[in-house]
Amino acid sequence: MEVILAEKAGFCFGVKRAVETVYEQAGADGKIYTYGPIIHNEEVVKDLEKKGVHAIASEAELETIAEGTVVIRSHGVSEAICEKIERQGLRCVDATCPFVKRIHDIVSKESAAGRQIVVIGNAGHPEVEGILGWCRTPAIVIESLEEAEKFRYEGEKELCIVSQTTYNYNKFQDIVEIFEQKGYNVIVVNTICNATEVRQTEAKKIASQVDVMIVIGGNHSSNTQKLYEICKKECENTYFIQTLDDLYLELPESVRLVGITAGASTPNNIIEEVQNYVRINF
Ligand code: F3S
Repeated sequence: MEVILAEKAGFCFGVKRAVETVYEQAGADGKIYTYGPIIHNEEVVKDLEKKGVHAIASEAELETIAEGTVVIRSHGVSEAICEKIERQGLRCVDATCPFVKRIHDIVSKESAAGRQIVVIGNAGHPEVEGILGWCRTPAIVIESLEEAEKFRYEGEKELCIVSQTTYNYNKFQDIVEIFEQKGYNVIVVNTICNATEVRQTEAKKIASQVDVMIVIGGNHSSNTQKLYEICKKECENTYFIQTLDDLYLELPESVRLVGITAGASTPNNIIEEVQNYVRINF
């Protein structure tokens, strides 16, 4: 069977870098920890556990650790967590995605200059929590158009608006527009990363060309779900699988071309396995 594999299937640059960092560290001496699971993929987390890498579940758990190395994942963490790791005498390996690190630098500098930071993103998301933790003054999180409409600002200094890297670009633009219509003096830094959009655009293009489309990713992964929806619109025969074990395809003779893409937390080996299987067995 002929297969088109999406170039941007699976890990984005920042996640790939963070996962590779942990695997490199796993070979080193001493205990290795990650602050939170390195990615939302159980198989990867379990595999790392077998290699002696433990995912720290909370700040309270971090406080109980007296030695070893802590790897910070691509989402990043607050400055306070970085300091805590160092205060406890632990070695810190920072695998924060450089695009997220850039946001930390912006909010730190702009808030120090007295500007009110507004983060457009999902409150409670670890990346947003991390960003808030680099602001010198309390920041505001705006999640939706409704929240932007309700927002009131009495301060005199400008507002500095940044975004969570995975926020939807059109929604971000709409929210910025609301702020501008209110007459606020705003500095807008578009910090959205285009990795997700590039993956989606590519998946759509491939799905429109193939007879069957396979989307690989975790059941709970919202970005994989989104990829599936995009592909399904283009190609009726689109299948969502977690691993090769879920693949029960009975393809009619007429099928000539199969497309494959994968969500952001799908490791390469799973993608490869599916690809090889389809190439050889159909
Ligand atoms: Fe990935 Fe970094 Fe963008 S983690 S989605 S490359 S901000």
